[in-house]
Amino acid sequence: MNLRRAACLVAALLIACGGILLLTPRASGAAADERRVSPQALADFMQRDLNSALTATSYEIFHRRQLGRPVEMTPQLSQALDGLQNAAARLGELRTVESDEAPFRMYVINLQSTVHALANAVATSQTDDEIHHWFNHVSAACESCHSEYKR
Ligand code: HEC
Repeated sequence: MNLRRAACLVAALLIACGGILLLTPRASGAAADERRVSPQALADFMQRDLNSALTATSYEIFHRRQLGRPVEMTPQLSQALDGLQNAAARLGELRTVESDEAPFRMYVINLQSTVHALANAVATSQTDDEIHHWFNHVSAACESCHSEYKR
C-alpha cells in the first residue's frame, strides 16, 4: 500500500469513527437505568447460569478422579466448559448497579481469564494437578467478587 492510500484509509477511518460517535445517542441517566437488570435478576443469573455451569464443570473434572481416571476432554466436559465460558461472557454484559464500577469489571475479567485458562489446561491435556489448580482459581474468582459485592 502506498503512502497516499494509507493516508486516505486513516482519514476514512477517522471520519467513520467521528460519525459513529456523533450518531450514537448519549444515554441519559434514566435510559441507562432502564437497561439495568434488577438485583434479583443478577441473583437469578448467578444461581441458574453461573453456579450451575460451575457445578457441571466441577462434576466432570472431579468425577473422573473418583473413577481413578485422568481428566480428559470428554464431550460432557467440553459442553460444561463452554457453558461456563458463555456464562462468564454474559456476566460481562449484564448491566447492574455494580457492573458500572471498575472493581466489579475487574472481577469479571478475572473470572473470564481463569475460566479460559482452565479450558486451555483441559484442551492441552495438562496434568490433573494443573487442571485442579486452575479450577481452584475459578472458584477463587467467584469468591473474591462475592467478598466485595455480595450482601
Ligand atoms: C463480578 C462479580 C461476581 C463474580 C465474578 C461472581 N459473582 Fe456470584 N454474585 C455476585 C453478586 C453481586 C451476588 C449477589 C446478588 C444479589 O443477591 O443481589 C452474587 C450471588 C451469587 C449467588 C447467590 C444467588 C442467590 O440466589 O442469592 C450464587 C450461587 C453465585 N453468586 C455463584 C457464583 C459463582 C459460582 C461464580 C463463579 C463461577 C460467581 N458467582 C461469580 C457477583 C459475582
